[in-house]
Amino acid sequence: MQIYKVGGAVRDRLLGKPVTDIDWVVVGATTEEMLAKGFRPVGADFPVFLHPKSGEEFALARTERKSGRGYGGFTFHASPEVTLEEDLIRRDLTINAMAEDDQQNLTDPYHGQRDLEARLLRHVSPAFAEDPLRVMRVARFAARYSSLGFTVAPETMDLMRQLSESGELEALTAERSWKEISRALMEDQPQVFIEVLRECGALKVLMPEVDALFGVPQPEAHHPEIDTGVHTLSVLEQAAKHKQPLTVRWACLLHDLGKGLTPEEEWPRHIAHEHKGLKLIKAVNERFKAPKDCQELALLVGKYHTHGHRALELKPSTLLELLQSFDVYRRPQRFEEFIAACEMDARGRKGLEQRSYPQADYLRGAANAARTVAVQPLLEKGFKGPELGEAIKRERLKALKAYKEAASA
Ligand code: CTP
Repeated sequence: MQIYKVGGAVRDRLLGKPVTDIDWVVVGATTEEMLAKGFRPVGADFPVFLHPKSGEEFALARTERKSGRGYGGFTFHASPEVTLEEDLIRRDLTINAMAEDDQQNLTDPYHGQRDLEARLLRHVSPAFAEDPLRVMRVARFAARYSSLGFTVAPETMDLMRQLSESGELEALTAERSWKEISRALMEDQPQVFIEVLRECGALKVLMPEVDALFGVPQPEAHHPEIDTGVHTLSVLEQAAKHKQPLTVRWACLLHDLGKGLTPEEEWPRHIAHEHKGLKLIKAVNERFKAPKDCQELALLVGKYHTHGHRALELKPSTLLELLQSFDVYRRPQRFEEFIAACEMDARGRKGLEQRSYPQADYLRGAANAARTVAVQPLLEKGFKGPELGEAIKRERLKALKAYKEAASA
């Protein structure tokens, strides 16, 4: 049997990037031989094994034929006769379809190295279409490598467009899609992921609520960039620049969905878009089974981001409601993430990227003021049950009034 390093490990070494995961392909071996060497099978029907010591993935060279729609619809053909070239031709991109032996000799039948130099994300063969998830993968690689100058080859964009129109994307499972989305959002240029999905028509299928924001105007006085879709991309870009976590980036992407519902005759204003957007945010959250913390923050940011921007003008009672909604007493981190998302929203406006956001410290100070209210003295006064709750609220309101007065003095 011959063993080769393949995929991302070869690509990233040639790009001079750190290599974390190594995938291997094994040519000329049978399942029985692999098991005899102590490799552990990953799944019953899947010709992939884990190395007994390193845990790295070793796949038997295989060809893949599609037998049904969506994931789980694959059948694999793996046998000792499948050659390295036959294995590589069914992979997604030429830059991912190179192999290397233990002497670092490169096998590159589909010119991955040439495309690396040309900074092109190009599909290897029509077999690309066997896995519609690759549309999202290409958009993710575009996000990752755009700062190096990579773009999607026009013929690959065409194929992605055909796949998006074919209805195949709808068959992807939430789990596979979310894995791509979450990884793409954590890249340095996550907005490129959305741009590429939009360009090939996949955004309209995957997240029509986000796609609908393009072409929707906002008032120029607050939003010099005008277009809501452009604004959303800038907010995402700012979130990545400021190294925000996934929760914040997800909330940034979805915060303005309500603006896509505004009747044209109301443009460029978007009255109550925060509230109107909630059902859309919920739908996107559920479509991709986003983790609970992402779902929760997206809904809260959707509902309250305008409160965040207007923090300094809010009445103490409204400020209190906001703090209560976030349960800042037990969930301080979540409120910090809300503040971060609001700040990214404010910075994601053309020409205003560097403007300071005093609302952030003001909101932090308000949360601290409300937190200083001690429960013990109220218990000692004999408050219990719902009355205790009311008494705590009254004290917090007092603290917030004092805080606001001190801040505006
Ligand atoms: N691959 C593919 N189609 C997929 C998934 C994977 O063709 N839908 C192939 C590609 O050759 C890829 C390799 O399997 O390079 C390994 O896949 P994976 O580990 O998911 O990606 P990497 O290319 O290693 O990229 P990353 O750095 O994002 O992990």
